[in-house]
Amino acid sequence: MRYYRDTYLEINLDNVIHNITHIMAKTKDMTLMAVIKADSYGHGAFMIAKTLLEAGVSHFAVATVDEGIELRRARIKCPILVLGGVRVEDLRIVSKYNLTISVHSLDWLKKAMVAYQGKIISIHLKIDTGMGRLGLTTKEELDEAIQLLHSHKHFYFEGIFSHLATSEESDETYYQMQLHRFESMLNGLDLINKYVHIANSAGSLKTPPKYVNAIRVGLMINGQKPSKDIPFDFELKQSMSLYSKLVQVKVVPKGEKLSYNGIYETQDIEEYIGTIPIGYADGYDRRLENGRVYIDGEYCKIVGRICMDYCLVKLPRLLPEGTMVELIGEHISIDEYAEKIKTNNYQATCIFSDRLPRVYKRNGQIIKTINRRLLARIGGVK
Ligand SMILES: Cc1ncc(COP(=O)(O)O)c(C=O)c1O
Repeated sequence: MRYYRDTYLEINLDNVIHNITHIMAKTKDMTLMAVIKADSYGHGAFMIAKTLLEAGVSHFAVATVDEGIELRRARIKCPILVLGGVRVEDLRIVSKYNLTISVHSLDWLKKAMVAYQGKIISIHLKIDTGMGRLGLTTKEELDEAIQLLHSHKHFYFEGIFSHLATSEESDETYYQMQLHRFESMLNGLDLINKYVHIANSAGSLKTPPKYVNAIRVGLMINGQKPSKDIPFDFELKQSMSLYSKLVQVKVVPKGEKLSYNGIYETQDIEEYIGTIPIGYADGYDRRLENGRVYIDGEYCKIVGRICMDYCLVKLPRLLPEGTMVELIGEHISIDEYAEKIKTNNYQATCIFSDRLPRVYKRNGQIIKTINRRLLARIGGVK
């Protein structure tokens, strides 16, 4: 698939295989649900799913029904759990695409039982143990929900789960409290043949409580660590890089103001200024005006405001137009990028827009390019 600007995200699928192989080896007694919501954190859900299946992953989780449908339409056949809330009126579509859903309240379950009498939908009950977002909160609600499920032929109670709020922190007090609440909620339930899960990436690295048999891992798949402080006994490899090429190079005399609002003024008698065709409409955040890129073996400072479609860089010497620019990659980590834009590595990779084509590499070769902007046809039909 083609694209017509020299700016793209490169996704190294060998690194994805490397990461998932190590994660699976470390958590080998658990069913691993690969969390590929938000387009696999910006990396492209379909290609990551295909790669993970090859590596032996058997279950996926996404945030929304739409994300589940997207995978089904791409012929991903294995179980897909929708982690987020689902509208009762969407249960027919959930059933059509054979998605597994989360049930987060007793009230919702009662409404769904009245509204839906179709083909069996598998459900996982979500327990709120301290995240405060979604989930049943009391043992009474949970017991009633399970009883209702036993009496309803159209939902199959397949699993039960909760979500951790602080698993990446070194102080485990809150984490232990959540485990304790989860265990109390599970107390007395018949959980034979049910999936029981609470751990995310950081949680999966801790000794698992004896009652869980599955984990939900997202961030680490693409090589990011949930926290710098967590010790790792295996290497995670960043799968995302961001590249562009200098589209224009200028020799600018001293005292010239560059880009919007002229916040940068050239200092040297002559400065070599390169224009990079990427801007905040691509997700290259305006806060990167003090960032750096890597060009021809050297770090170079970004100067002036980041524009919607362009940014400027001070070059060490006159470089030819068309010179490759690394904005994220071997020399500039996602963590560095995230720090510059005052966020974490979770958000950092999600915010790249679909104006950036995703170029997938395997064994050093490009095996696929996805340019979402050219996938949509007029009328919105793919
Ligand atoms: C409910 C739920 N489970 C699992 C995950 C995966 O977490 P992580 O990316 O830390 O592995 C997330 C991510 O935000 C989530 O919201």
